[in-house]
Amino acid sequence: MKTRVAIIGAGPAGLLLGHLLKAEGIDCIVLERQTGDYVLGRIRAGVLEQITVSLMRRLGLDGRMNAEGLPHDGFNLADGERLIRIDIAELTGKQVMVYGQTEITRDLMQAAGSRGLAVIYGAEDVALHDIESDAPSVTYTKDGTQRRIEARFIAGCDGFHGPSRKAIPASAAREFERVYPFGWLGILADVPPCNHELIYANHERGFALASMRSDTRSRYYVDVPLTEHIEDWSDDRIWDELAARLGLEAASNIVRGPALEKSIAPLRSYVFEPMRHGSLLLCGDAAHIVPPTGAKGLNLAASDVHYACDALIGYFHRNDNDAVAGYSAKALARVWKSERFSWSLTKLMHRFPDDGPFERAMQVAELDYIANSVAAQTSIAENYVGLPV
Ligand code: APR
Ligand code: PHB
Repeated sequence: MKTRVAIIGAGPAGLLLGHLLKAEGIDCIVLERQTGDYVLGRIRAGVLEQITVSLMRRLGLDGRMNAEGLPHDGFNLADGERLIRIDIAELTGKQVMVYGQTEITRDLMQAAGSRGLAVIYGAEDVALHDIESDAPSVTYTKDGTQRRIEARFIAGCDGFHGPSRKAIPASAAREFERVYPFGWLGILADVPPCNHELIYANHERGFALASMRSDTRSRYYVDVPLTEHIEDWSDDRIWDELAARLGLEAASNIVRGPALEKSIAPLRSYVFEPMRHGSLLLCGDAAHIVPPTGAKGLNLAASDVHYACDALIGYFHRNDNDAVAGYSAKALARVWKSERFSWSLTKLMHRFPDDGPFERAMQVAELDYIANSVAAQTSIAENYVGLPV
């Protein structure tokens, strides 16, 4: 098979890029190791920046998001009983959209058929070849037969564990990483949210986040040591911990219900440079990971895809080789700023096991500064809503 862009991975990054290229008349094929149902079974964060919303609009795939998503004007930082509201609408003139990132993937997946986007699920043993040449290829096995896709470019959208990043020689690359000493235990339940806006709480018992998917479905998190096992966390134990950490007012509004899903996810900051090597472009989690504080994961994947799509349009429609050459620097400039914001919000809102009274005093001082400074709130708001692309 021959195509212009072989896309590896049908998560949000791969599907978004596939749809955008297809809409520009640039032929592509998406290869996914798992089944569609498996991909949709992954529970992800739920806050969309403008870049993600605008790409869905550009594709005309924003119908369900407009109908079911909840535009939010602000969110809250809590420290014990103190609640600091960040009024993002007032401070930036923008909003965020609360809409499950899994739903974005579902919308993109369901539209693939009618838009003629070829997605091959169940592709095993995906391997990249000749990425330093102008004629790279991807091999994979499907139904026991090995096949090859010849392309002009490969887009590595295969997440943190995929083969694309590993195809770039170590001598050409640099990795930056921080692993955090806790994970987030998440619970999803069909109960009304305890507050109409998100609350990120720093409590002496640890971090908590109150989020939502709709007026009737809530998503909550508490941070736990990495040694914890999900089997030891009954629904009641999670609800008790949330009530203790979120502050009295939010706690009094918590409605408990059986968990539809619960799991523990580790937190990591990671950046791989460069994001392009030869004919291979990396997008999304294949190139970087952020801790979920700030909900930047999918939004960063969306901005990568925006830049990658522009670069490929430059190459195929305007014979502009420089567009592809500039992709990595352009994408990384935004990636590092999102990394910084996610890391600083993580540091501000969590009790690290090695922290002592000094580090805690720094958190209190910073939260007090934020509570009393429009400049500080504006900085948080413009990062939360998403920096310009
Ligand atoms: N061959 C083919 N596909 C693969 C392979 C492989 N060897 N390895 C991984 N994949 C697929 C995965 O199965 C997955 O569907 O690549 C896809 C990568 O998707 P994600 O991990 O969701 O990564 P990405 O699309 O970059 O998503 C970015 O969106 O939902 C958020 O939090 C999520 O931060 C993440 C962000
Ligand atoms: C979520 O709703 O799952 C969510 C929201 C905000 C975050 C992380 C996760 O920062």
